[in-house]
Amino acid sequence: SVRPLIAPSILSADFARLAEEAAAVSGPSGEGADWLHVDVMDAHFVPNLTLGLPVVKSLRAATDIPLDCHLMIEDPDRWAIGYAEAGAYNVTVHIEAAEDPVRIAKDLRAAGAKAGLSVKPGTPLEPYVEVLKHYDTLLVMSVEPGFGGQEFIAEVLDKVRTARHLVDTGHLRLVIEIDGGINTETIEAAAEAGVDCFVAGSAVYGADDPARAVRALREQAAR
Ligand code: DX5
Ligand code: ZN
Repeated sequence: SVRPLIAPSILSADFARLAEEAAAVSGPSGEGADWLHVDVMDAHFVPNLTLGLPVVKSLRAATDIPLDCHLMIEDPDRWAIGYAEAGAYNVTVHIEAAEDPVRIAKDLRAAGAKAGLSVKPGTPLEPYVEVLKHYDTLLVMSVEPGFGGQEFIAEVLDKVRTARHLVDTGHLRLVIEIDGGINTETIEAAAEAGVDCFVAGSAVYGADDPARAVRALREQAAR
C-alpha cells in the first residue's frame, strides 16, 4: 500500500496566525503535513467567505508545505490561473462552476501547477471521466462545501471506489483526495475505498496538538 497523504485545512486554523499554524503541522520530513489545504470561498459558489489570492501569496512565502488550493468560487475559468502563478502546488476548481474545465487544466499545468477537479456530494463522476484525463487530482467532497466541522457523508465513497477502479485499470492517472468530515473515525472507510490524500480541518486544528493529530490520521489511514 502507498503512504497516505495528509492535508490539514487552514479553514479551522487561526487566520491571524497563518504562518504559525502552517508551522504547527510542518514537522520533520515524512512526519508532518504533506500538503496544506487552503479553502478559497467567494460567498457566491458557497454561502461563506474566506480568503483569496493576496493571502495565498503571503502564505506561499511563509511556508515550505505545498499549498493545495481548493477554489469554491464562481468563474474559476477567470481566477484559477492566478493561484498557479502565485505558486500553489495544486489548484482545484469545481466542475459545477467551470465553463471549460479542460482549458483550465491545461492553463494550470502550463503555469507549473497540478490541476485538480472537485465534485460536490451530489455530483456524479461518470459524465466527467474524459475531462478527468486532463487532471492530476480529483477532490471528492464528503460534505456540502462551505463550512468546516460538518458530518462525513459516507455515500460519496461509491465515487471514490469508481475513481480508484479507473486509476487502477489505467483509465485515469490522478491522486484521489477526500474533503469534509475526515477524522480518526471516518478515515479508515475512506482509505479502504481508495483515497490517496485526506483533507482534515477541525480534526487537525481543533486538536490540542495539530502535529500529533496529523500523525494519528496517517497511522489510522495506513491500517
Ligand atoms: C469545506 C472545506 C473543507 C473543510 C473541511 O467546504 O472544503 O476543506 O475545511 O473541514 P472539516 O475537516 O472540519 O470537515
Ligand atoms: Zn476544502
